[in-house]
Amino acid sequence: MPQQPTPEQTALFAKACQVKANAYAPYSQFHVGAVLLTDSGREYTGVNVENAAYPLGICAERSAISAAITAGERCFTAIAICGERDTEPCFPCGACRQVLAEHCSSDLAIVLADGVYRLAELLPYAFALDPELPI
Ligand code: THU
Repeated sequence: MPQQPTPEQTALFAKACQVKANAYAPYSQFHVGAVLLTDSGREYTGVNVENAAYPLGICAERSAISAAITAGERCFTAIAICGERDTEPCFPCGACRQVLAEHCSSDLAIVLADGVYRLAELLPYAFALDPELPI
C-alpha cells in the first residue's frame, strides 16, 4: 500500500503533471512527465520522447535522470511521475526501475497519483554486478 504524500511530495507530483505537457508521444499518445528531486532540493524534469523508430523512444524517468546526471547531480531523494491520466498511478517500467536503482538508494520515494512507494518495493532483488555491494 502506498504512503500518504507530504505536502512537498504533492507539489512535486503537480510539477510532474505540468511538465507532461512537453512530452513528445505522437505514436502512443501516452504522455508522461517526471520530476526528480536531489538531496539539495534541486529539481530535474523529464518527459517521454518517442521516435518513428519505436525502440529509440525514451521514458520520462530516464530523461530526468539523464538531465540530472549531466548537471553533475548524484544524490536523489524522490521522483514524481505523472502518466496520461493525472488521477491514475503510472508505475515506472522495469527498465526505469533498474536505472533508478543505479543512481538512487532503495528508499527513494516514488510519488505517484495514488501515493508514495519506495524503490525497494517496486524493484526487489535488483540486479547488481556484486550482490554484496550496493549498486
Ligand atoms: N513511458 C514512460 O515515459 N515511463 C514509463 O515508466 C512507462 C512508459 C512512456 C514510454 C512511451 O513513450 C509511452 O510511455 C507508452 O509506453
